Amino acid sequence: MIKEIVCDILIFGGHGDLSLRKLMPALYHLCHDGYISSQSRIIIVSRDDFTQEENVALIEKKLKQHLKNGFYDEEFFRTFAEHIHYVKADLFDTSTYGDLKELLNLEPTRERVNYLSTSPTLFGPICRSLHEHSLITDVSRVVLEKPIGRDLASSRVINEEVAQYFDESAIFRIDHYLGKDTVQNILALRFSNMLFAPIWNAQYIDHIQITVAESVGLEGRWDYYNEFGAMRDMMQNHLMQLLCLVTMEPPCSLDGNSVRDEKLKVLRSLRFIEGEDLNTKTVRGQYSSGAIGKEAVPGFFEEEGGSPKSDTETFVALRADIDNWRWNNVPIYMRTGKRMSKRYSEIVVDFKEIPHSIFPDKGSCIDSNKLVIRLQPDESISLFIMNKIPGLTDGMRLKNVELDLNIVEDAPRSPDAYEHLLLDVIRNNPTLFMRRDEVEAAWIWADKILEGWQERGIKPKSYPAGTNGPSASIAMIEKDGRSWYGD
Ligand code: BG6
Repeated sequence: MIKEIVCDILIFGGHGDLSLRKLMPALYHLCHDGYISSQSRIIIVSRDDFTQEENVALIEKKLKQHLKNGFYDEEFFRTFAEHIHYVKADLFDTSTYGDLKELLNLEPTRERVNYLSTSPTLFGPICRSLHEHSLITDVSRVVLEKPIGRDLASSRVINEEVAQYFDESAIFRIDHYLGKDTVQNILALRFSNMLFAPIWNAQYIDHIQITVAESVGLEGRWDYYNEFGAMRDMMQNHLMQLLCLVTMEPPCSLDGNSVRDEKLKVLRSLRFIEGEDLNTKTVRGQYSSGAIGKEAVPGFFEEEGGSPKSDTETFVALRADIDNWRWNNVPIYMRTGKRMSKRYSEIVVDFKEIPHSIFPDKGSCIDSNKLVIRLQPDESISLFIMNKIPGLTDGMRLKNVELDLNIVEDAPRSPDAYEHLLLDVIRNNPTLFMRRDEVEAAWIWADKILEGWQERGIKPKSYPAGTNGPSASIAMIEKDGRSWYGD
């Protein structure tokens, strides 16, 4: 039985791209499916000069655009629209918070979610304004969108500012990868099956690969992306979170701190990549013009707003090593990039080869077992095992076959990551959010690489759009006697 929750959800930067593309569709589904009670209010805070009607019309237009086919329901939208309130406030200017205060004070004891869908430079000022207007109650939470800074120092400044007004237990730092169903399924797979537990270690696993490939370019975000690049935009957060979930020790429970304590240990055990290792264990890339499928696409410089002087990386590949007992000598190869040949994200756990083959040569070569966890575009989990080809062949012939471990076939609509995470904030469940020490530990490791690139003048290598990154990323893994899965 679904428990309807009554709360006020404030979205600062409510007319921004993230809010209209992701948050509003997520809230629409949560209301539609009965998770949020009809007394709840969704309060859009923005400095646009909009009337309530114009605000609703904009949201309706964007929902029609962004809800998956068949999910927009004209009649339900009228009900949903009754949840939505619009408040004009200049987020830089405390004196404009009067209307917001009036509206919130109609329900002074109600649980409040303050979603800061704004530039991180506004996180501190918004929290300060809320405090100055006495709008932070005992049941208020704040949600921070990434990026939390562009290095350790700037992330500390942001975290410090927010911490002046909100207790750490009320701060929800979003990494939307943690809201994806298959990502959570990693926890289920690892910790609700005995099967994998004894072999999930250096004795049986040869190496792990994590690929998050995107075919899109910058989608009109040149300024932001040029300042961040693939290392800060994707590696420091999404890929490192995936790495943590795959390699952490079993937590003592699913509660927020137990899971996050274990992730933190992994982050702190990562070996720094420095010195000559920066050349052999990391590869930076930047896309030049090329084609995705049949469509010709521009290079990074030629993107709207682009400049040829930029040496921001749009691709990064690296080999990470975890210095602990479980993962001794098990490399984790990670790569992510824009304008790669196709959009897909997957984790491949590659087991060791058998110690001795009893099959004659013509039995065909024996591939190592692989567990492939595909996050997108389609979610799936497969185990590759060797099997006998049926029939009266001369000698035993073997074949690598795929065991489909999918359990989602009869599941209802798969919720978007933001839907899951918003509901967790509303329910006050922090397990899938990043704690401050985690974010900072991830920065400490990533900063070493970023600073090393800078000091050693390591520039991105060019790769044509529509390929899988610079050839150096293939050489990086091949020199260890391995290759990227699926390339
Ligand atoms: C965001 C990055 O965090 O994740 C974007 O800022 C990236 O650059 C996006 O495109 C990818 O998310 P998803 O869910 O589409 O893989």
